[in-house]
Amino acid sequence: MFGNANPVELELGAGDGSFIARHAAEHPERNFLAIERLLGRLRKIDRKACAQGITNLRGMRIEAGYLMERMLAPGSLSAIHVYFPDPWPKRRHWKHRLIQPAFAAHARAALADGGVMYLRTDHSGYFEQMLDVFTKAPGFEPVAAPPALLANQTDFEREFNARGIPTLVATYRKTPATGPCATAARPTGFTP
Ligand SMILES: C[S@@+](CC[C@H](N)C(=O)[O-])C[C@H]1O[C@@H](n2cnc3c(N)ncnc32)[C@H](O)[C@@H]1O
Repeated sequence: MFGNANPVELELGAGDGSFIARHAAEHPERNFLAIERLLGRLRKIDRKACAQGITNLRGMRIEAGYLMERMLAPGSLSAIHVYFPDPWPKRRHWKHRLIQPAFAAHARAALADGGVMYLRTDHSGYFEQMLDVFTKAPGFEPVAAPPALLANQTDFEREFNARGIPTLVATYRKTPATGPCATAARPTGFTP
């Protein structure tokens, strides 16, 4: 897809691409994939990238859950960004939230060792769920997000902050698998 072996970062629900376009421009040594369900928003991302001559960003119109579950090669991502995902505030709709235990398992499979999951939201209830999911998910440790990354705000984030609603941030790094089944621990020529 990118024609090189640079690390790949993914943003799910990229909106108008404010964050990912800036991030891609700041990091020409990395590749970026922006996922959006809405075609109009994907077109905005495309226009931004073309206008700014950004060549390391691709967009894809697809359901984030489907992509995570079925389309990513194991260990293929260096980072996943999920910023202000739809909060589905009513309890009977919580099942539609993107960040669930199954999501964490798919994220762990798709991330390379040391790969990072970046989360932001304005919604305290959803934030609690994010913390709960990633605290309980095996193979992640909490880390601090780099200040330079946090300074790159998304479109929704700017709007929320302007209305006095703060950004809630959670960041987790994938830890290497350990134990007898860890791939890295297998000697060359290992036969199950
Ligand atoms: C609240 S907006 C946030 C957009 C952007 N991340 C920001 O912070 O400005 C959520 C975005 O996720 C997209 N989205 C929601 N559910 C999705 C899904 N299942 N797959 C892909 N995109 C999705 C929506 O179309 C929307 O653009």
